[in-house]
Amino acid sequence: MNTPVTSQLQPLLNATTIQERVSALGAQLNADYVQSEAVRVVGVLKGAWIFLADLVRQLDLPISCDFLGVSSYGQATTSSGVMRMTTDLNDPIAGLDVILVEDIVDTGLTMRFLLKTLALREPRSIRTCTLLDKPSRRRVPFTPDYVGFTIPDQFVVGYGLDWAGAYRHLPYIAIWQPQDG
Ligand code: PRP
Repeated sequence: MNTPVTSQLQPLLNATTIQERVSALGAQLNADYVQSEAVRVVGVLKGAWIFLADLVRQLDLPISCDFLGVSSYGQATTSSGVMRMTTDLNDPIAGLDVILVEDIVDTGLTMRFLLKTLALREPRSIRTCTLLDKPSRRRVPFTPDYVGFTIPDQFVVGYGLDWAGAYRHLPYIAIWQPQDG
């Protein structure tokens, strides 16, 4: 049986701050894609789900949405860098302007893998949008096109991000720390 872990959450980004930044990102996307005839917003499961839901409601563009899932081989704690798609897109992306949406970019391995994989499907363009970026954790060079917040190397939960499946539903983002004693 698993031993329950007591933890404490230290607020990092409150709900208002997040919503204001999501609105600003939406405005930027509306301007950048004003000429586009078809935008496909692709969310990376599971973490991107809540950010994507709020972001697309800021968009005044001809969009459709799709989702995919990825997983890395090897030990859970040290990414091997070998990734596979566990859930593929429902529809082709050929000729579309794709915006790949993540909750967080950490080592950059997931984005690198997805950009390579999806580029083979001949989208018209592909850019990346992440709510959170931890550049200090990069293992491969990668710069997202759109970033909500750059954060330090701390374990965060909420607004889609989890600890062992918990906390995704929180409307804010907090630093998760195990509690002493
Ligand atoms: C997280 C996050 C990204 C990935 C980023 O997913 O949602 O997909 O890690 O890490 P990277 O830059 O080091 O590749 P996670 O594996 O925690 O799954 P989840 O989205 O289902 O929570």
